[in-house]
Amino acid sequence: MVSRISAHNVADAGQLAARALPRPIRDYLEGGADDEWTLRRNSAAFDEWMLCQNTLVDVSQIDASTELAGFRSSLPLLLSPTGMSQLFHRSGELAVARAAGEAGVPYGVSTMATTSMEKIAETGCQRFFQLYLFRDRGLTSALLERAAASGYGAICLTTDTNVAGNRERDRRSGFVMPPRFTIRSLASFVAHPRWLGGFMRNRSFRLANVIDHVGDLGSGSSVIDYVNQQFDRSVNWKDVEWLRSRWPGKLIIKGAMLPGDCVRAVASGADAIFVSNHGGRQLDGTAAPIDYIPAIRDRIQASAQLIVDGGIRRGTHILKAIALGADGCSIGRPYLYGLAAGGRVGVAHILGIFRAEVERGMALMGKTKIGDIGMNDINHLSELREAFLRRRGRG
Ligand code: FNR
Repeated sequence: MVSRISAHNVADAGQLAARALPRPIRDYLEGGADDEWTLRRNSAAFDEWMLCQNTLVDVSQIDASTELAGFRSSLPLLLSPTGMSQLFHRSGELAVARAAGEAGVPYGVSTMATTSMEKIAETGCQRFFQLYLFRDRGLTSALLERAAASGYGAICLTTDTNVAGNRERDRRSGFVMPPRFTIRSLASFVAHPRWLGGFMRNRSFRLANVIDHVGDLGSGSSVIDYVNQQFDRSVNWKDVEWLRSRWPGKLIIKGAMLPGDCVRAVASGADAIFVSNHGGRQLDGTAAPIDYIPAIRDRIQASAQLIVDGGIRRGTHILKAIALGADGCSIGRPYLYGLAAGGRVGVAHILGIFRAEVERGMALMGKTKIGDIGMNDINHLSELREAFLRRRGRG
């Protein structure tokens, strides 16, 4: 087991993950839809905003903790649900849950997890369960009941997967589920003996949350086929009301991007919204979540929490999101990089990087509490340019 990973930032960890994983697995982790424009935009959009550097403020005590979706998080950060984590490291979801628990950051457990939600609950981490409204509502209802019975604090409904995104990297690299050694991908698997050994020895790779429901289908791949057939194009706002009436706890809607949809989500009983384009993996050409935050906040005021999900790679991205009107952020790929690079230690390392970057950023902004960061702490590039043009126009 590794005792630490050698990464100064998320990008370094991404490189370690790339080295640790065979090509098809790496492409599945990194890939976006179509031309990956939205994937790039998700992070690039932050470059248009600049944080304000208040000086000579006493910042000897900094508290970056905050309340997010009903959880007390030690950082304005959540871990987004991601499927099949045992692909990236055999310790999979349990490693993520343990690192999240130690760091005091809530973890979103995916329906597509390779460890059952009950087993993850045993780690005691703060957790919410991500749900799809499947064609087979019996499966959705069974998952809801299990989430309630195993103490999940919130349900997160993913709404941006009515059809599968076009991930061309996966097609090119020959990614299939469960991983199989095709002629195209064989060399890459063989070139990663550590990953291959771990995967071959791992007897617990399965869609652990759905296998009980459909267990009699036989092999792992037929369960995956079954789940793929479950994505329902007809899901609409009425179904959200159905879910709201069955789940008394906190409800998060993941995948609303437009201000009008966020208003609708609040009216349908959402407590929080993950403003998300699925990390650029679904509709290519959409804006970044951060692009919409000011307009959404303007429309919904304080009626629900907003969580920016997509492209967060630095603590300063989190601070910019909060200044623009979000309550916090959530990450997917960054913690998976840590997982691939070093299991639980790797995830803990990534969370440590975010903590250091958020706290350092707050100190340099002259802020001691998350609640003190607001719209006066950020400028758009265009504002500063306009100030110059105004001055020149007068002179
Ligand atoms: C995801 N995401 C995702 N979302 C979800 O609701 N259910 C899921 O099972 C998955 N699975 C999944 C697997 C992998 C490998 C990735 C990279 C992503 C999307 C995820 O929750 C989140 O929206 C994005 O990852 C956020 O973007 P960043 O942080 O990866 O840029």
